[in-house]
Amino acid sequence: MRILVLGAAAGGGFPQWNCNCPNCRRARAGDPAATPRTQSSVAVSADGERWVLLNASPDLRQQINDNPELHPKHGARHTPVAAVVLTNGDVDHVAGLLNLRERQPLALYATGRILDVLSGNPMFQVLAPEAVDRRPVRLGAATMLHDAADEPLGLEIEMFAVPGKVALYLEDPDAADFGSTPEDTVGVRVRSTASDGAGFFYIPGCAAMPPELADRLRDAALVLFDGTLWRDDEMLSGGTGVKTGGRMGHLSISGPDGSMAAFRSLDVARKVFIHLNNTNPVLLTDSPERQAVEAAGWQVAHDGMRFDL
Ligand code: MLT
Ligand code: MN
Ligand code: ZN
Repeated sequence: MRILVLGAAAGGGFPQWNCNCPNCRRARAGDPAATPRTQSSVAVSADGERWVLLNASPDLRQQINDNPELHPKHGARHTPVAAVVLTNGDVDHVAGLLNLRERQPLALYATGRILDVLSGNPMFQVLAPEAVDRRPVRLGAATMLHDAADEPLGLEIEMFAVPGKVALYLEDPDAADFGSTPEDTVGVRVRSTASDGAGFFYIPGCAAMPPELADRLRDAALVLFDGTLWRDDEMLSGGTGVKTGGRMGHLSISGPDGSMAAFRSLDVARKVFIHLNNTNPVLLTDSPERQAVEAAGWQVAHDGMRFDL
C-alpha cells in the first residue's frame, strides 16, 4: 500500500492568503526552514495505479498537477483517482470535490451525515449523480472500497467517530456542542485487502483522546494525526484568531493534555502530525517545538511525503 501526502496544512494552507504571522512571512519569503504546504489531503493506493483520495482539498487541482501518480494516463479522458473518502464536511476537506466535476466516474464515500450535507448544497450537484456514486459508510463497519464501476480497489476502510465538531458553516449556536453528531467527524483506518496488515490511521481532526480511541491506536504501524496547533491559545496569543484549538475541535500538540502526551504510552511505530495550521511552530525546521516533537518520536508531514506499508 502506497500513501502520498498531497497536502499537510490545515484550512487556509501555509502560507494562508491573508496571514501575516511570522511563519507565513517566512514561507512567503522562501525561507528553506518554512516550506509551504497545501491544504489537508492524502492519497492511498493498493496497486500504485488506482488511487483513493482521503479528503478533497481546495488545492486539489494543484495537488494533482504536482503528483504524476495522479495524472491522466490513457485515452482522451482518464484519471487514476478512483474514489474519494471524506472525514468531515469542513471546507478544507470537501471544497476540492468541485474540481472533480467534468462527468468523471468516481465513488464518493462518507458518513450519511456528510453525504446529507453535500446533497443539501446544490453546488455539489456539479458532481453528476450518474458519474459520481455517493456511498454511505457506517461507523465501525469494515467497508471495501470499489471504483465507480464496482471494481474492488484492494483497500478496506473503517470509519469511527472521534471527538470533534460539526463543520464551521453548520454550527448551531443554540445547540449543545453546536449541533455536532458522531458522524460529523471521523477517523479512518485504511488497510490493504491483499495483506493481513492492520494498515494505517488517518485522523486529521480530533478534539480529544478518549480511552477507546487510545485503545484503537495502540501498537499501530502508522498514524497520521491532527497537528493543527502547538498550543490551544496559539491563535489568540498571536493575534491571528479568536478561537482556541478546543473551540475549533482540535487537540493541541503540547501540554499535559496534548496529543504528544496522549500518544506517549501507545507504542505507535510511526507518528506523523498532519493538518498543520500555519501558526504552528512545528512547521519551522529550526524551531525548539520541532525539536520537541521529533525528540518524542513524531514526524511533521509535508506535501510529497510518502509511506509504503
Ligand atoms: C478546521 O479544521 O477547524 C476547519 O477546517 C476550519 C475551517 O473550516 O476553516
Ligand atoms: Mn480543517
Ligand atoms: Zn500565518
